[in-house]
Amino acid sequence: MTSIALIGFMGSGKSTVGKMLARQLKKPFYDLDQEVINKVGMEIRDIFSKYGESYFREVESDVLSSLQVNNCIVATGGGIVESEDNQQILKSKYLTFWLKADFNTISNRLIGDKARPLWSQDRDKKMDLFNRRQLLYERSSNKVIDVNDLEIKETTDLILRYI
Ligand code: S3P
Repeated sequence: MTSIALIGFMGSGKSTVGKMLARQLKKPFYDLDQEVINKVGMEIRDIFSKYGESYFREVESDVLSSLQVNNCIVATGGGIVESEDNQQILKSKYLTFWLKADFNTISNRLIGDKARPLWSQDRDKKMDLFNRRQLLYERSSNKVIDVNDLEIKETTDLILRYI
């Protein structure tokens, strides 16, 4: 089986679904945000505030391109699709699922979230980011799953049925 990547906006459920998928399929699981945290030795919000977003993006892209494991499940960060090279990697090396949720769904799920620096911006900026990324997720994915009304287990089961 080819490796599976999960993409989508912050709060779409990539990490939780990824862990459940990996458990069910007995495959190794990689959370790219966690890999970045391990590599830099700092939490994401501290990386953003100390070194800026562009440094975070560099490390995030390095982590994706150096992940050489076959047959694994990868949960990406919401901004992985900002780079065309990353879009290319996702399309060519993975079966990539876009967990697609509306802005309102995301907003409800991320009430009070302080871990994500880009979610701490004002609402208009978040919405612009959300809207701009839709096309990038579409370009980078092989399959779209509308997760608005789905529980984590239902999303996982849909992916399992598809592969
Ligand atoms: C980001 C999403 C986050 C994390 C970082 C930047 C983004 O990951 O990589 O805060 O640009 O959308 P999640 O999508 O797992 O929240």
